[in-house]
Amino acid sequence: MNKVLIIGRGGREHALAMKFSESPHVSTIFVAPGNVGMKDVATTIDIDENNFSELIKFAKKENIKLTFVGPEVPLVNGIVDKFKENNLNIFGPTKAASIIEGSKDFSKNLMKKYNIPTAEYETFTELRPAVEYLKKSKPPYVLKADGLAAGKGVVICNNINEAENTLKDMLSQNKFGDAGAKVVIEEFLVGEEFSFMAFVNNEKVYPLELSKDHKTVFENNQGPNTGGMGAYSPVPSITKEIIESSVKNILNPTAKAMVKEGRPFTGVLYAGLISTVDGVKVIEFNARFGDPETEVLLPRLQSDLFLILQDILNDKDINLKWSEEACIGVVLCSDGYPNKYKTEIPINGLKEVSKNINVLHSGTKEKNSEIVTSGGRVLVLTNIANNLKKARENIYNEIEKIKFDGMHFRKDIADV
Ligand code: AMP
Ligand code: GLY
Repeated sequence: MNKVLIIGRGGREHALAMKFSESPHVSTIFVAPGNVGMKDVATTIDIDENNFSELIKFAKKENIKLTFVGPEVPLVNGIVDKFKENNLNIFGPTKAASIIEGSKDFSKNLMKKYNIPTAEYETFTELRPAVEYLKKSKPPYVLKADGLAAGKGVVICNNINEAENTLKDMLSQNKFGDAGAKVVIEEFLVGEEFSFMAFVNNEKVYPLELSKDHKTVFENNQGPNTGGMGAYSPVPSITKEIIESSVKNILNPTAKAMVKEGRPFTGVLYAGLISTVDGVKVIEFNARFGDPETEVLLPRLQSDLFLILQDILNDKDINLKWSEEACIGVVLCSDGYPNKYKTEIPINGLKEVSKNINVLHSGTKEKNSEIVTSGGRVLVLTNIANNLKKARENIYNEIEKIKFDGMHFRKDIADV
């Protein structure tokens, strides 16, 4: 029997812990640092995701068979390299490969060099040439901080004043931290977006089912971008032809390109794609499972996640089995998110929702034996049913049984 360690603390990691708990080959699941909601499926360990030396010490002491990394920051900081140096088995891309998410400039250059379809762009480190470029472009203006920004580094501006101010915030006011010291300005693409993730092992690509995330905080694509306000899988509007062309023109060539660049990628490659009149194009790459996409994908995965990951790490081919059912996830967030919000607000009704609703915790903690909010995205409620319509009904019938002051959720998730 095997012990698994999951690195991370959100809804994605809660969903991963639940999936690993279904495997007859896994005896114990640890999550570092995890959160209070996971305690019935996993043991949470009070070690920060970025404290590599303590995580390694723990993995050695507990004889962990497999470590799985959820979030991007430890990946980009090289957690996989450090675990490997210590002969520990870990699933995720190296620091060199995680740059595909860590730097938008890197990923855009990679796509340009290898003819992987994406929006036209230029990269800037100085305000004046960036503003000059804006003046030659047409709105809406798409401005992207180069580095990691927790899903908030992309700003779409409808007029030039707003775009200039955002550029100033990024390039001269340091409002996006180091992430904004370089900015990519790119062409605005029109089309339907979807998330296409794959297990990648060097040149080999094993596509997962599709999912779709809703990024803006309010309904009808209004308000600022968030880490994701809800998701669903499958995505009926995306045809088999679009899926095939995405694998052929995007996922496969990207895996090959990373090998050619001397940055072979092993892990979950996340392609944020858009189906335009000129074909499918890349909006972004991530080096990990999406959140909340994972929460709606894993319930549909029928294969044993532990065995799949072990096979990939042992260079064996895998065969993924999926349920035909549909899954939807709706995020409950704090008032004000993705900007400032209050925390430590008591959450009521967690036990009142129907058993067929899965309540995944993202930003929660325990205080005086009460569950309270501790983040912007607080909970993700998921339901799996015969079709999306039914899954939507199931979620929205139950969602308001949970209550906390300022609770906000989108009412149009999977409204297809
Ligand atoms: P990203 O973090 O790069 O996925 O961007 C966040 C969101 O901004 C995406 O999901 C899109 O909705 C939007 N976006 C990013 N780049 C573009 C683009 N070039 N054209 C249109 N929308 C975009
Ligand atoms: N939901 C988008 C992401 O995980 O980046």
